[in-house]
Amino acid sequence: MTTTVSPGHCARFRALTHDTHDVLDKRIMAYSPFSGRERYAAFLKVQYCFHRDVAALFDNTSLNTLLPGLKERGRFAAVAQDLKDLGQALPEPEMPPVFGEQIDLPTAIGWLYVEEGSNLGGAILFKMAGKLDLSADFGARHLAPHPEGRAPSWRAFMQQLDAIELDDKEQQRANNGAEAAFTQVLSYVERYCPIS
Ligand code: HEM
Repeated sequence: MTTTVSPGHCARFRALTHDTHDVLDKRIMAYSPFSGRERYAAFLKVQYCFHRDVAALFDNTSLNTLLPGLKERGRFAAVAQDLKDLGQALPEPEMPPVFGEQIDLPTAIGWLYVEEGSNLGGAILFKMAGKLDLSADFGARHLAPHPEGRAPSWRAFMQQLDAIELDDKEQQRANNGAEAAFTQVLSYVERYCPIS
């Protein structure tokens, strides 16, 4: 894998995961996670499990070489603090995190697309969290924009991702990673945000 320009991964991930993302958005909103702090806390547990799955990627040396500044993007600590702000115990998932020390880089790239993209869509969620008196300093830290702004941060990250050259098989693994990330989040929603 080299870093010569080969644009298009993000557009491909977006097209491939469009339907799954739509299902996830609708399912989360059907739970009305911003109708009160208790419901919001359940949504935080979903986020906690998802960010726990990818937390190791932000410390990965190879990924930080390919994606400079990656280390500063991780939001797992922020989600954990959001739960603590609300006096919630941290979830204890039975399964180990998806990523540990040994990772498949293309798969990781697909997952990172989903994690970072979710900060872009998070603008709406951050606004709704404000109505529950939650903010970047209390309870909604993980939904706050990156310091340089949501859109500029996302554009910069997409450029970095798109510049990674992947062969056909690696692209397939990256695609599978993006799809698996959405499916994993959906499974956490089913677990922590049941709709009766
Ligand atoms: C943890 C759950 C979520 C994940 C993992 C997630 C993931 C993503 C990803 C990967 C993108 C970037 C798509 C792209 O442009 O390539 C995105 C954007 C977006 N998401 Fe989500 N999303 C989540 C929840 C939600 C929810 C609940 C909503 C709202 C109802 C939402 C609304 C949006 C919107 C509107 C955008 C586009 C933002 C823009 O173009 O300005 N997302 N999300």
